[in-house]
Amino acid sequence: MRLSGRALRISSSPTMAIDAKAKEMKARGLNVVGFGAGEPDFDTPKHIKEAAIAAIWGGFTKYTPVAGTVELKEAICNKFKLEQSLEYKPAQIVVSSGAKHSLYNALHVLVQEGDEVILPSPYWVSYLEQIKLAGAEARIVETWDDNGFKLTPDKLEAAITPRTRLLILNSPGNPTGAVYSEAELKALGDVIIKYDNILVIFDEVYEKLIYDGLRHINIASLSPELKERTVVINGVSKAYAMTGWRIGYTAATVSVAAAMADLQSHSTSNPTSIAQTASVAAITGDQEPVGRMVMEYARRRDYMMERLRAIPGVSCNRPGGAFYLFPNVKAFFGKSFNGNRINNATDLAAVLLEKMQVAVVPGVAFGNDDYFRISYATSMDSIKEGLDRITELLGKIK
Ligand SMILES: Cc1ncc(COP(=O)(O)O)c(C=O)c1O
Repeated sequence: MRLSGRALRISSSPTMAIDAKAKEMKARGLNVVGFGAGEPDFDTPKHIKEAAIAAIWGGFTKYTPVAGTVELKEAICNKFKLEQSLEYKPAQIVVSSGAKHSLYNALHVLVQEGDEVILPSPYWVSYLEQIKLAGAEARIVETWDDNGFKLTPDKLEAAITPRTRLLILNSPGNPTGAVYSEAELKALGDVIIKYDNILVIFDEVYEKLIYDGLRHINIASLSPELKERTVVINGVSKAYAMTGWRIGYTAATVSVAAAMADLQSHSTSNPTSIAQTASVAAITGDQEPVGRMVMEYARRRDYMMERLRAIPGVSCNRPGGAFYLFPNVKAFFGKSFNGNRINNATDLAAVLLEKMQVAVVPGVAFGNDDYFRISYATSMDSIKEGLDRITELLGKIK
């Protein structure tokens, strides 16, 4: 059977192999500690669930407008205004089935064959695959722990070609947790507005998960020109522990939003009516559960970072946001554990899983295999146990 060229361009997720193996080991009864999760381990707050249940009993179970209910779009506009002083009209908002879907729609209406998209690495793996799916080419710009995994204006400018159409920025970032400051975003924005035809996709899905008193800044809020050039992507998955509800949203110019809504009208139509009602409750309701989750993430991050930094050979940046650490493990490359040679983080992740039953995601999944990603969206007990095992194994690599 012939598959389309589009299908053949997609790479299967490099995290799949390790994930499948971890699941198979768990099924065999082994005590696997999983640090692979990209989702909160908390339950969705009660008032959000109650809003969804009321929507079901109230018969709110039919199609809604394709780009989302008026109520949800207005709640999103108010949120932008209150939190970032950004004025959007409901016609500039498109609600989709998760932020991943929002990104998919955005890329499909913005880029095509022959276009280039600047993608700072380490990147969230779906950006790369979605760029390819949209027919464009990723121009990857490497960033490293020595400057906090941040794209700099000179690197950005050097990556721009006549084919550049888009820059993707993600703050706080997955997998590094890097948070761009206002000054850093302003400097990148100054480069962008020098070029007439370059837009920015600004993914802020982790905006609420931010620590150490840092302030989340959206590049669109820095000037009216940048607002015109920015397609903001956000959603309720990470902030409100709502990954299964599948609600993401985009804020953009009216013409970009209309094109995205048209695309969505012929694929998924509206996101689930019930989940939209739940999202109104999430965005407009009590924010105290978010604060509680953030405090717990911060506690886990500090513990995990301290333990990782205490292991000889491991260095680890202090992430300002999200719920991942991205330690550098290059010092172990070229060495061996029980005759297994370690050449990169993929080899190290395989040995950790095989010998210690600890699942981490090798950095190759994010474009840099000198690191691995370890999620602290899991219980403190699992974190302690997992860190004991990682410390033991790394201590035996010679
Ligand atoms: C950086 C980033 N953007 C977007 C998403 C998509 O989130 P969702 O589709 O659950 O809204 C994720 C999920 O892992 C992510 O890490």
